Amino acid sequence: MKEIRISLLLTLGGLLLLTSCGGHKLSTVGSDSEVEARVERLLSRMTLAEKIGQMNQISAGGEVADYAEALRKGQVGSILNEVDPVKINELQRISVEESRLGIPLLVARDVIHGFHTVFPIPLGLAATFDPALVEEGARVAALEATSQGVRWTFSPMLDIARDPRWGRIAEGSGEDTWLDARMAEAMVYGYQGRDLDSTSMAACIKHFVGYGAAEGGRDYNSTFLTERQLRNIYLPPFEAAVKAGAQTLMTSFNDNDGVPSTGNTFVLKDVLRDELGFDGLVVTDWNSMGEMVSHGFGTDRKDVAAKAVKAGVDMDMMTFGFISHLEELVSSGAVKRSVIDDAVRNILRIKILLGLFENPYVDVEASRAVQYAPAHLDAARRSAEESAILLKNDAGALPLDAGSVGRILVTGPLADAPHDQLGTWAFDGEKTHTVTPLAALRERFGAKVEYVPGLTYSRQERARFDDVVAAARRADVVLAFVGEEAILSGEAHCLSDLDLVGSQSALLEALKATGKKVIVTVFAGRPLTIGRDLQNCDAMLYSFHPGTMGGPAVANLIFGDAVPSGKTPITFLKTVGQVPMYYNHNMTGRPYNNERLMKDIELEAGQTSLGNTSYYLDSGASPLFPFGYGLSYTSFEYSDIKLDKSSYSPSDVISVSFTLANTGKYDADEVVQVYVRDLVGSVTRPVKELKGFERLSLRAGEKRSMTLTVPVDELAFWGLDGKKKVEPGDFQLWVAGDSASGAPLSFKVQ
Ligand code: NOJ
Repeated sequence: MKEIRISLLLTLGGLLLLTSCGGHKLSTVGSDSEVEARVERLLSRMTLAEKIGQMNQISAGGEVADYAEALRKGQVGSILNEVDPVKINELQRISVEESRLGIPLLVARDVIHGFHTVFPIPLGLAATFDPALVEEGARVAALEATSQGVRWTFSPMLDIARDPRWGRIAEGSGEDTWLDARMAEAMVYGYQGRDLDSTSMAACIKHFVGYGAAEGGRDYNSTFLTERQLRNIYLPPFEAAVKAGAQTLMTSFNDNDGVPSTGNTFVLKDVLRDELGFDGLVVTDWNSMGEMVSHGFGTDRKDVAAKAVKAGVDMDMMTFGFISHLEELVSSGAVKRSVIDDAVRNILRIKILLGLFENPYVDVEASRAVQYAPAHLDAARRSAEESAILLKNDAGALPLDAGSVGRILVTGPLADAPHDQLGTWAFDGEKTHTVTPLAALRERFGAKVEYVPGLTYSRQERARFDDVVAAARRADVVLAFVGEEAILSGEAHCLSDLDLVGSQSALLEALKATGKKVIVTVFAGRPLTIGRDLQNCDAMLYSFHPGTMGGPAVANLIFGDAVPSGKTPITFLKTVGQVPMYYNHNMTGRPYNNERLMKDIELEAGQTSLGNTSYYLDSGASPLFPFGYGLSYTSFEYSDIKLDKSSYSPSDVISVSFTLANTGKYDADEVVQVYVRDLVGSVTRPVKELKGFERLSLRAGEKRSMTLTVPVDELAFWGLDGKKKVEPGDFQLWVAGDSASGAPLSFKVQ
């Protein structure tokens, strides 16, 4: 029997890293104490103005000459948004050779899901449930970006998001804390490397904290998270990333319960530094310090600069509040010198750890060969394949047989939209290197492919479908690519309606009416409400925005060279009115009990009650697709699910064994998921929580017995007494292919 210790392995991995990377020992520049001694030596030589200069981050956008003087005077610690290696070398040369102390710059960029080679958006990466592949992708991003001199990325975004209206849901790992934490570790390991060396790009975990809970799913909006929600749901991914060695962190734009994060001493000091043990650099979000004035949390830039630095911010991104006011605030005694020193230590340390003092320059020639390397494109394609979720496959509509396929109609506004399939935050991805589905299909099937877009862009309202319907009638199969362009998700790009925009649903209806086989692929930045579109297709693949290699990946999936294995990293809703609906909700006092929906009941005048449980009269209590869901071309069967014991102590490790059989005709991967419910607590507990998963490859017909493990301390939570612990009592555990399947086993913790 093969043993797989998911959580244990992850815990051990985390521990190894904690003793090494977290303690900086893995850096090639020297031991912890050597690094600290260098920090102190440099600090002791700096004037107050030079220290404050290090705390200032500015955005590029002009010519080197525009910043040269500020660099010479030591007024800039970091620059974001410069990616030209020639310019970066020059900026470094001025800083190193022409400033008094020769401190190199930290060059930053939003490398969110790839640099030049763009991977699926983070929500798509989460759908892979494959931390090893996600780490590989982040490593590719680091290799490409660092070769051009970018040594700091503002990623990963760890904001739990339970509201698909929020455009930035695209940038995170979805609704689940445990999945988010595993993705967080993977990305930190990938960006920084297991050792800090010249290919390390410092990770920046963001946005600290609670930003994803913006009221109404409207970006930048206030949040009202209780401390218990913060601790149980929103903080664990940050904790995991800190343990994995994340070197930097960004404060968030939102105010939670009235306190903007950039001025929140409780979260930035008590929680982050004292409890989580974070010893890296804290940067604001873009002007989030200045925006504390708009929030009404400070009178002016000087006031909020004092509040931010005292709360624990080390570096100011684009408010210019530190550079303009800190000297004066220190002279007046409003801010202590020691506060400035601590901030500067955090900035110098990361520059030393990254080896920037030893080698601030990059080899411009060599950097060219690193971009879009074949291995990078291959990793991007595999990631796009694993991230696609098969939501419907009636009568085995997919895969298509490449050998016998006749005429193929390719249609829809996303079939050939190279920029849009890259998704949000893909600044450096280039259209010319992006392979669309149309390009991939033409390359493979040549003249068999007919392309009639039907709609030129997704939001197009008025359209006649005569041409595309005529083409569908001529075709053997219709491949429709719908969804939303990159611009419809991401920062500030929120929606209040999640149906397919424009006339896309009408296009699908018209295609389906031809009686031809219609295969729909959705490219989108969020889970859209595609219930009615499911009726108008034979099969649907949900690919999010799949990146540079999205075209070949989708073509491989449609023609069976790859088998879909992605699982929903977030609940898919029937209608936007169900928001927020997430699988790990608490149990109400009146759980839904299969009451009928309004449409199935004769409503009589004067009727006073239709039932008294928790559901919507029109859409019920269930989503369109639950968390963790995704079909395959094959079928999997779970059997013999058994726990090793019926009762555990808090220090035990639970072993659950099971047999998984691939009962279909295709070799395929299954994402096995372990969920736990704590039946009674000092506070009410979620109906289910993911506590482990493993992606397994099984050949057609193969049957395998396995054991997964969950340490009991993974079941700890912050209870009524404000402490984190495992509360003894009765629990249930599921092993299944999604969050809504399987039968529970019972166990106790004593
Ligand atoms: C604002 C965004 O909120 C943040 O995520 C990003 O890293 C910064 N801008 C820098 O571009």
